Amino acid sequence: MAVTIKTADEIEKMRVAGRLAAEVLEMIEEHVQPGVSTGELDRICHDYIVNVQQAIPAPLNYGNPPFPKSICTSVNHVICHGIPSDDKILKKGDIVNIDVTVIKNGYHGDTSKMYFVGEAPAHLERLVRVTQECLYKGIELVKPGTRLGDIGHVIQQHAESNYYSVVREYCGHGIGAVFHEDPQVLHYGRPDTGLELKEGMTFTIEPMINAGKPQSKVLGDQWTVVTKDRKASAQWEHTLLVTSTGVEVLTKRAEETF
Ligand code: MF3
Ligand code: CO
Ligand code: CO
Repeated sequence: MAVTIKTADEIEKMRVAGRLAAEVLEMIEEHVQPGVSTGELDRICHDYIVNVQQAIPAPLNYGNPPFPKSICTSVNHVICHGIPSDDKILKKGDIVNIDVTVIKNGYHGDTSKMYFVGEAPAHLERLVRVTQECLYKGIELVKPGTRLGDIGHVIQQHAESNYYSVVREYCGHGIGAVFHEDPQVLHYGRPDTGLELKEGMTFTIEPMINAGKPQSKVLGDQWTVVTKDRKASAQWEHTLLVTSTGVEVLTKRAEETF
């Protein structure tokens, strides 16, 4: 499949979907507290997306086997695609990634952030901060003429210089009317390699950075991805538009200043 260039009309729809996805992450923040279950966080997000935003939670029934919930909640050593459950109660010192994808007027907005449950230990705060820096360093490079290998390289460089590792099995992706489309956006690579960015492309950057070794495995539910060494993992994600001069962060939150 070819990489699509979005029309002005599609870009406007991507802006709307991106804003809605960001607003879900802002809305849920106050609910991420010790004692809450990830199942409850899923219900709150689902109801908000469906009833308030009148949008569709893209994860629900996505893929094969169909993903059973409306958001992904990935706690501590879960890298990504954690399935919300009433049995998974968050406790003080946990870190959790909440990944939200909404569909509005046929277009997707996909974004995730890390939350601390109460106060987190310093080593986890550092992992979460460095992972966010990885995302931001990638975003800074987005403009026409940059190549995907440049983005992968800066992310890998920052992670590894902090003694962390980059998950290889999952990556960012083109996005639009289709949830996951070309190109694949790797979070490692070499400068001056790979696809050259063009104005009108929309894609995600969503680095998954491990405190320990990079290897992952999928649990028996066929979705939950965990670190093999059971050390912690963090992830941050934005949906981006390549503009004539640089980048527009379609899923920017109020707390962010790009
Ligand atoms: N939101 C994830 C991504 O960033 C994909 C989740 S697919 C699901 O690409 F089915 F697990 F929800
Ligand atoms: Co994504
Ligand atoms: Co996502």
